[in-house]
Amino acid sequence: MMVAFQPVPAVIEAIDKKVADNHLFTFRLSESISVAPGQFVELSIPGVGAFPVSTAAHPGGATFQACIRRAGRVTAALYRLDEGANVGIRGPFGQGFPLAAFAGRDVLLVAGGLGMAPLRALLQALLGERGRVGEIILLYGSREPDAILFRDELEGLAAAGTIKVRYSVDFATELPWSTDAYVCRIGLVTELLRDLRFAPAQTVAAVCGPPSLYGCVLEDLARLGIDPERIYATLERRMQCGVGQCCHCVTAGVFVCSQGPVFSLAELRRLPGSI
Ligand SMILES: Cc1cc2nc3c(=O)[nH]c(=O)nc-3n(C[C@H](O)[C@H](O)[C@H](O)COP(=O)(O)OP(=O)(O)OC[C@H]3O[C@@H](n4cnc5c(N)ncnc54)[C@H](O)[C@@H]3O)c2cc1C
Ligand code: FES
Repeated sequence: MMVAFQPVPAVIEAIDKKVADNHLFTFRLSESISVAPGQFVELSIPGVGAFPVSTAAHPGGATFQACIRRAGRVTAALYRLDEGANVGIRGPFGQGFPLAAFAGRDVLLVAGGLGMAPLRALLQALLGERGRVGEIILLYGSREPDAILFRDELEGLAAAGTIKVRYSVDFATELPWSTDAYVCRIGLVTELLRDLRFAPAQTVAAVCGPPSLYGCVLEDLARLGIDPERIYATLERRMQCGVGQCCHCVTAGVFVCSQGPVFSLAELRRLPGSI
């Protein structure tokens, strides 16, 4: 893989502000880069700084799409910019989801909050080769209904019978809603596993969300019978260089930026303190 040390100049092409403080940015690059699902780039704002961010779309090429939460100094500066503003994009970095491992198998995606962004890129990649994977089930936990990312898209796919969607929300002012295509419950995303009908022995799982999600769900999936070699999670660490040079991201002796951020549960079990 070629690693770019110079940011590629890019402009903000579109900002979708449907979900407060979790805007979907589309950037147009002056030259194409290929960012696979699960990989990330360093997005820089001239005169302000840079931060790592995952691709939320597949394939990319001349555009790069990311769902970005307003978190602190640099992301707040991005939120002050309008369409047409200049930024820089350096990457791609890291190891993404091993797409070959999904071929011929059913797929279980488990997302918590903003973790839906990298899983959307994975979902798009899998749907691009629809004949190569079996049933796709998405379990997606959010704080509240208004915080659900890509809701129109996901419900469109569910209504078309392309994927099955199960939402959970921490709280809602109205009773959770359900249709023939998707259901929503109040509770934790892990609770959606309880009565889920699927075939663990032929399933590959991908999990993305806050650290609290990993603590229980990864081993739950293994207990249900999914091979730990086929349960993937993406780790988030404070990153800087992205190429295994600065040591900011080192966890249990591993460079999360270059050896991850996607690891299998079998690998994570050998990295104490990683989850
Ligand atoms: C591989 C990777 C992929 C990521 N993908 C996305 C994405 O798709 N969308 C998105 O919105 N964000 C993503 N992030 C997180 C994003 O990089 C941080 O939110 C960003 O660095 C915040 O920068 P800031 O200058 O605005 O905030 P800062 O001022 O640096 O920090 C604001 C607050 O966030 C905390 N924080 C900052 N970075 C991290 C981090 N990496 N992990 C935990 N806490 C952190 C700080 O401790 C502080 O409390 C990703 C991070 C990594 C490592
Ligand atoms: S971010 Fe520098 S070594 Fe990983």
